[in-house]
Amino acid sequence: MVAIKYAFAAAACVASTAAIEVSVSSSGGNATGYGQTRYGFLHEDINNSGDGGIYAELVRNRAFQYSRKYPVSTDGYYSINGAKLSIQMLDEPLSEALPASMRVKAPKGGGVVGFENEGYWGMDVKQQPYSGTFWVKGEYHGHFTASLQSNLTDAVFGSTKVKSKCKTGDEWVEHTYELVPTKDAPNSNNTLAITFDAAGAPSGHLDFNFISLFPPTFKDRKNGLRVDVAETLYGWSSVIRFPGGNMLEGNTNRSYWNWKDSIGPLIERPGFAGVWGYQQTHGLGLLEYLEWAEDFEVEFVLAVYAGLSLNGDITPEDKLQRFIDEALEEIEFVRGPADSTWGSRRAELGHPEPFTLEYVEVGNEDWLAGGDKGWNAYFRYRFPLFQQAINEVYPDIEILYSGSAYDTSSPGNYHPPQNPAIGDYHPYREPDDLVDEFDLFDNQTVRHIVGEVAATFVNNGTGFDGDLHPFPWWIGTVGEAVSMIGYERNADRVLGTFYAPVLRNMNRWQWSITLVQFAADPALTTRSTSWYVWDLFALHPITHVLPVESPAGYGPLYYGAGTDEERDGAMVWKGAVYNSTNKADVPISVAFDGVKAGTKAVLDMRTQAEGNPWAYNDPFTGVNVVSTTTEVITANADGVFEFSMPNLSVAVLDTDVSSAGSSSPSGGKKHGGPGHKGHGRPGKPPGFRPKL
Ligand SMILES: *[C@@H]1O[C@H](CO)[C@@H](O)[C@H](O)[C@H]1NC(C)=O
Ligand SMILES: *[C@@H]1O[C@H](CO)[C@@H](O)[C@H](O)[C@H]1NC(C)=O
Ligand SMILES: *[C@@H]1O[C@H](CO)[C@@H](O)[C@H](O)[C@H]1NC(C)=O
Ligand SMILES: *[C@@H]1O[C@H](CO)[C@@H](O)[C@H](O)[C@H]1NC(C)=O
Ligand SMILES: *[C@@H]1O[C@H](CO)[C@@H](O)[C@H](O)[C@H]1NC(C)=O
Ligand SMILES: *[C@@H]1O[C@H](CO)[C@@H](O)[C@H](O)[C@H]1NC(C)=O
Ligand SMILES: *[C@@H]1O[C@H](CO)[C@@H](O)[C@H](O)[C@H]1NC(C)=O
Ligand SMILES: *[C@@H]1O[C@H](CO)[C@@H](O)[C@H](O)[C@H]1NC(C)=O
Ligand SMILES: *[C@@H]1O[C@H](CO)[C@@H](O)[C@H](O)[C@H]1NC(C)=O
Repeated sequence: MVAIKYAFAAAACVASTAAIEVSVSSSGGNATGYGQTRYGFLHEDINNSGDGGIYAELVRNRAFQYSRKYPVSTDGYYSINGAKLSIQMLDEPLSEALPASMRVKAPKGGGVVGFENEGYWGMDVKQQPYSGTFWVKGEYHGHFTASLQSNLTDAVFGSTKVKSKCKTGDEWVEHTYELVPTKDAPNSNNTLAITFDAAGAPSGHLDFNFISLFPPTFKDRKNGLRVDVAETLYGWSSVIRFPGGNMLEGNTNRSYWNWKDSIGPLIERPGFAGVWGYQQTHGLGLLEYLEWAEDFEVEFVLAVYAGLSLNGDITPEDKLQRFIDEALEEIEFVRGPADSTWGSRRAELGHPEPFTLEYVEVGNEDWLAGGDKGWNAYFRYRFPLFQQAINEVYPDIEILYSGSAYDTSSPGNYHPPQNPAIGDYHPYREPDDLVDEFDLFDNQTVRHIVGEVAATFVNNGTGFDGDLHPFPWWIGTVGEAVSMIGYERNADRVLGTFYAPVLRNMNRWQWSITLVQFAADPALTTRSTSWYVWDLFALHPITHVLPVESPAGYGPLYYGAGTDEERDGAMVWKGAVYNSTNKADVPISVAFDGVKAGTKAVLDMRTQAEGNPWAYNDPFTGVNVVSTTTEVITANADGVFEFSMPNLSVAVLDTDVSSAGSSSPSGGKKHGGPGHKGHGRPGKPPGFRPKL
């Protein structure tokens, strides 16, 4: 630790006798003095955050996918004019991957018949181009009509005719169309209807499969992301972890997240028996995740299946090679040259450029699902064999261990990650515990990511399931901020911090604490209280942690500071006040070594105006309980910044004045704006890979 002298002590006394004096030295810092904690999130398809969530597909159950766990059905579909809808397993299915299809049989008397799909509990209909496709088998002379219509009234917002290409009925034929509604629907209780005139179908029925409809997507990516949902994550985040999470592990070792099932033409993807209560399409597959990271211009941590599933299936050592090979092939698919075996598959699928992949996580929470047996298998052979095999081919790839220095499967079974592996810590906590963990990484010698974190349980609650809060709430958010400052002041060994889970569809969920809530109706897309603080911290990045001292120690004010090389050496201080004891706001003076009188800094603050620790952002009221204030303040004659923070508040003081007002929930506007230089830039920002 570097000794700091309090050059400004006298001045601070004049300003306020009670001010907490914080001084930041201009050099020193941690062992390396170098490091950047990057902010991001884990995404896996939990509770329709993928299908029906950020994946823009509007049709639910589009290809009648099923698995041992989730039986095939016509869920999501309603018949029109008495048509009978049934699942058929035809001798000639659309593809091997999609053996089931839906037969639409006209009633006696025929007429115009068909089906509606209600989407993921509704569909947002606006005057914009929708791209549709459906496959049909069966002879049909005439046209189909595709319409977006109300589920509540007779209103039809847009409709188009699609000429039948089914001349003979011998084969599956794809029909594609574009539909531009002539008016916006007043709510999201809408369906997609597809009809045909039974008089043109000699057999009186037609078979349908892969019925899909996409609105415009984020950055116009085909098979891409839902715009408003993607925009809540875009701009501030600089790293994504995927594809799970528990999803990676799967329910059993026959139904883990097999990346090979998730690539290629959509009609060749069988889908995935999700671990969160529903069959998944696999439309958001490996390549879509990679393109997501590419479109966000962020780095990613790719997790590979490592021989442990949620039911406790453990792969014995003599059978592990198969999964090691799959991981090596997956890595080659991601970053191999276009003439390599799997790189050429990627090129075939339209992406000849290799992706930059530097972080591979072996498994997920291996200390948890399989108990001691799973954990022992992990540190004894599963992890070492994967690590060795991957580094043999890719010595530059950093390998992540799926447990942290703070995890054990059972007492006495402590096996922390060992250098050079990077650990992964997942604190789902009460706010008080996140505050207690402020110094958790101070003496840590092994690098970690905090691969999943959120305040989820109320203080003094009674256990994991009993007290999951309904939404991220203000005191929890401030608790997260305290932990995040703790991570960032140890940025040389905490490389990234990831909120999880990140998205929730309000129509079908169980895990309630997510950064963003949404439903079919974009008006419900809601940034939680925590979003406002993650956004704040992420948009004031630092590349070098600097030593900070205060005679007041820590609590109720928690703080850390650093400088950002990428923004011309801006000096940045981050602080949070958690449970102050004095009724007045907490007066603070911050002295940055070397900063002269008259220097300007942005003070960007997040508070809850009523000081209500329970306040949250409820999608159904639309009220944002988080107050954002941004002001430019000037260093006094001694070069000291003086300000105060209320109880339960979070603030950043940043001498890069152009970084003012980082938070702009209107999404796109924010990106590339002032204060954003350190993020979203292509390539690898320095500091994510400090070596201890
Ligand atoms: C790094 O800095 C943090 C915050 O100043 C401190 O808690 C930690 O002990 C330092 N670690 C080292 C190795 O200097
Ligand atoms: C509209 O859709 C929502 C979401 O599925 C549903 O909760 C609501 O009951 C629907 N409204 C009506 C009047 O059907
Ligand atoms: C559409 O209407 C059906 C039948 O009334 C109802 O069960 C369903 O919940 C509705 N869906 C939406 C999204 O409104
Ligand atoms: C949502 O996820 C939870 C697991 O957290 C699962 O138990 C539940 O069944 C899921 N609900 C639905 C309807 O998908
Ligand atoms: C799957 O798990 C079972 C234990 O439940 C194990 O006997 C079997 O070897 C595993 N198979 C593979 C391929 O990992
Ligand atoms: C870190 O180590 C120092 C020196 O041994 C000790 O005083 C301090 O309490 C430790 N901090 C934590 C959080 O364990
Ligand atoms: C902070 O205040 C909340 C609400 O009164 C309380 O539940 C919590 O235990 C307090 N925590 C600390 C560390 O004072
Ligand atoms: C909360 O629980 C902790 C630990 O059990 C205890 O020390 C503390 O007094 C409790 N606080 C409240 C407000 O009940
Ligand atoms: C600050 O907020 C916490 C949580 O509500 C509360 O326990 C504490 O009393 C508050 N402090 C003051 C000074 O009001």
